[in-house]
Amino acid sequence: MTLETLLVATGAVTGTGVLAWWRYLDATTLRPTTQTAEQITAAAPPALRPAAFILSDPAQSNLMFEALELGHHDRGFPHIARWDYTPHGIDVEVQMLGGQKLGDWTSEDTTETLATYFAVPSVTAVGTDPSHVRLSLRVFDTLTDSIPTDVVSCAEQEAAPEQQVTPESVGVDLEAVPVGVAEDGSPWLLRVLGSQILVAGATGSGKGSVLHSIIGGLGPAIRAGLVDVWMCDPKGGAEFGSGADRLFVRFGVDAATILGMLSEAVELMDERLVRMRRSGTRKLYPTTDEPLMLIVIDEAAALSSYASREEQNEFRRLSGLLLSKGRAAAVVVVAALQDPSKETMPNRQLFSVRIGLRLDEPTQTAMVHGQGARDRGARCDQISELTPGVGYVGEDGTTGFKRVRAFWVSDDAVDAIVDAFSPAGVDTAPAADYSGFDPDDLGDGNTDHGPVAA
Ligand SMILES: Nc1ncnc2c1ncn2[C@@H]1O[C@H](COP(=O)(O)OP(=O)(O)OP(=O)(O)O)[C@@H](O)[C@H]1O
Ligand SMILES: [Mg+2]
Repeated sequence: MTLETLLVATGAVTGTGVLAWWRYLDATTLRPTTQTAEQITAAAPPALRPAAFILSDPAQSNLMFEALELGHHDRGFPHIARWDYTPHGIDVEVQMLGGQKLGDWTSEDTTETLATYFAVPSVTAVGTDPSHVRLSLRVFDTLTDSIPTDVVSCAEQEAAPEQQVTPESVGVDLEAVPVGVAEDGSPWLLRVLGSQILVAGATGSGKGSVLHSIIGGLGPAIRAGLVDVWMCDPKGGAEFGSGADRLFVRFGVDAATILGMLSEAVELMDERLVRMRRSGTRKLYPTTDEPLMLIVIDEAAALSSYASREEQNEFRRLSGLLLSKGRAAAVVVVAALQDPSKETMPNRQLFSVRIGLRLDEPTQTAMVHGQGARDRGARCDQISELTPGVGYVGEDGTTGFKRVRAFWVSDDAVDAIVDAFSPAGVDTAPAADYSGFDPDDLGDGNTDHGPVAA
């Protein structure tokens, strides 16, 4: 079969194709162990046949490398160390040719040409070690279907009264909170304790669903008093108002109140740090006495850009203090905004986890994830408007990005989260058993005292 025939045979990717592909993967898990390039190609799913044809025949791969100026019959060719099917298509591990650099493979020009050659919608390239690069051929989007949250029905029971309440006893790992699904089908687990989290995305990109998913995932720990949520909702309380006075220990909707909250949080954090210094504690593990303080700021631009000059400066100062000193003291800031520019989010570099949802401009991806992020696979500007909640997550200490989708948290689910996870609050119930209480009995055994003066 010629390459041309195969290219023509490649069909458009459809939902049915994805389903068939999942079934195919379930059945085989690994690439079929057939011998010849023709057999491998014939066994591949239709949308991946041109790629399978090229990858299974070194002569074809070398032709491609030569056409892309990534190899030459005099200087040698890159080595395809292995390739395998994945839920999104095919991953190829390539050993680069001596003298090549990662940028030779990751530039948009190269990945686009590779995609044309393989006849797939897109290719991303990431460096896996100094001499290797992984090409991901993307044909199936595994994140097209929204995934409704089920945190309330899955929540573990409260810890038994005699048991000491810890994150483990309530079934929450504060360093791995499930907030959605990754593109390989595994849970998207977010490190909350020890992080500072930035969520950036255009309007309607699903920032709210990320924030609600974080709160929902922490739900049992909030109910148990191990996590205090301080909610700053400068949009007037429309989105998070149902949790006011119930799920949240503090709730602010205007600049003055929110700045007051942040100032109080800084004070508590500083007191905590003094206590920790005195007791020689380096890192605080949240307890009900010293809970994790989760400070959620939706639409941070309302404070950083649209408030008065003094308020902007105060926000910059307070958020900077929380972000730079909060980590050890279990104070976590989660800030969401539409425009990730430096003006809108001062102290941007202090966020250790950055979630880039759909963004309008390629330059905004770099603002969230750093220079060269698009070349390393984070393409926030190419996320479809039809998939809110999809984004790329980058973490300090890692160079790659995880493509994820947050759970979908409907209005009903928000209400269910508030009902299920609001801490009990002030206990106004009677402390003793008054079931035998008789209001007419004044303690003398006589219940007939006649009329009482008003
Ligand atoms: N993870 C998700 N899965 C499925 N649908 C979602 C998801 N997140 C959001 N949506 C849908 O997209 C709409 C917009 O989402 P959301 O309000 O979270 O966006 P936003 O980024 O907070 O927008 P804004 O900047 O206007 O506040 C929601 O009404 C919801 O229907
Ligand atoms: Mg929102």
